Amino acid sequence: MSESGVAQVGLIGLAVMGKNLALNIADHGFDIAVFNRTTAITQEFIRENPNTPGKLVGCDTLADFVLAIKKPRVIIILVKAGAAVDAVTQQLIDAGVDKSDIVIDAGNSLWTDTIRCEKQYAEKLKFFGSGVSGGELGARFGPSLMPGGDPESWKHLKPIWEAIAAKVDPKTGKPIPGAEPGKPVTGGVPCTAYLGPDGAGHYVKMVHNGIEYVDMQLISEAYFLLRHLLGLTPPDLAEIFSQWNLTELDSYLIEITADVLQQRDPAKPRKYLVDSILDAAGQKGTGKWTSTSALDMGVPANSIAEAVFARCMSALKEERVAASKKLRGPKAGNKKHGKKMIEAIRQALFCSKICAYAQGFQLMFQAQQEYHWKFDFGTIASIWRGGCIIRAGFLQKITDAYTRDPKLVNLLMDPYFRKQIQNGQDQWRQVVALAAQNGIAAPAFMSALAYYDSYRTAVLPASLIQAQRDYFGAHTYERVDQARGKFFHIDWPDAKRPQIEA
Ligand code: 6PG
Repeated sequence: MSESGVAQVGLIGLAVMGKNLALNIADHGFDIAVFNRTTAITQEFIRENPNTPGKLVGCDTLADFVLAIKKPRVIIILVKAGAAVDAVTQQLIDAGVDKSDIVIDAGNSLWTDTIRCEKQYAEKLKFFGSGVSGGELGARFGPSLMPGGDPESWKHLKPIWEAIAAKVDPKTGKPIPGAEPGKPVTGGVPCTAYLGPDGAGHYVKMVHNGIEYVDMQLISEAYFLLRHLLGLTPPDLAEIFSQWNLTELDSYLIEITADVLQQRDPAKPRKYLVDSILDAAGQKGTGKWTSTSALDMGVPANSIAEAVFARCMSALKEERVAASKKLRGPKAGNKKHGKKMIEAIRQALFCSKICAYAQGFQLMFQAQQEYHWKFDFGTIASIWRGGCIIRAGFLQKITDAYTRDPKLVNLLMDPYFRKQIQNGQDQWRQVVALAAQNGIAAPAFMSALAYYDSYRTAVLPASLIQAQRDYFGAHTYERVDQARGKFFHIDWPDAKRPQIEA
């Protein structure tokens, strides 16, 4: 049985993320009502956590759950994105939640669903969306939180979100570590900020994930080049990634890569685990959503899409194995490059990473026009400095760039990032060329370089595309010597247009 009206907040969905978020909330002294569709899971959770600073109130029914929370109710739902969010929202309405109550969808929901839900349930409750990043440990000890929705609702959620979010040092911008069960980090700047109405928070979280895909792909390509070009072993590589973590590449993903590469296979201790893991990457869809959104809005986020396609290609394991026996390429490997090549690969990784983030921010720039949001890009970068999967020293540089120029059109135009690419681009080009010469696939390195070179090119070959379009389909073209928006067509002499059958 539950107590009535004592909890300051409620949470539905006690899978790992939900349990950890609930414990994080309780650690900060908030009394929290919890509900899971399987009652045994709720009861076990309460039994296992008897002494949290804030009270955990286990509820066996949704009616009890709703009664256990003070009004206006703040209810977090952490269930699978999609149909389950609607199902739980409807069940809450049936259980007595009303128009003054706030329901926060903290899953990886598609932003258009969040926009729809806010409208669809407006007469029944206040639907709010928030991205949550940082995996299980982030949820437990400090995630990055990306809220979006009605600003009035945010007022009620803010104290909880600011308390439980990861914290960064106000001077260095680095995450403050050291949270333990029952002893959360206090002080510091919380990695959360109100991002805008309706789907804004979930959109930003989606782009975070798109960037996460490229970050991971780039690190994997660096690993692969080091391994196959230079013949290095996993422990050598672990050492290199640890060193890189002391440079501009300092980030959570580089840090865990060093750990991953030292891990032996528990089933075959003479082997390293990375060599026992099948090279077929999974994906739940947020990278694809990011790429689809980029395609829909015509934003060149090619490295983000490339990272998604790289996962798709990896999943074609059997086909690739068959092709590897038939399709010829050069023999990879040239150990003579040594240390210089290690540094060149580091530079290639850093320059590519800058391009990937430039694409992610360009995408958000376009989305805000499309959805009438008003993003503060410096703030977005700042709430990614701690707690989330892409947290990195690098994010402080992005915040600095947008502080220098809040209207920055593309990160590549910022003096700091321009200089970094200026310093690293010879090595980046060398690495991309070597990858091609050695037949080692490095799609994200290559597409990032193509992005950079295209973006900095005043005249691209698209004039020829326009001519072809006009030739075969009278699609018209603009002229270099006329104002934009004026379209021209010529009757191409001897035009060989596709024959349309009558
Ligand atoms: C996070 C992550 C998380 C995501 C996983 C897996 O920010 O904590 O982005 O939300 O679900 O990284 O995503 P994929 O299965 O698509 O790789």
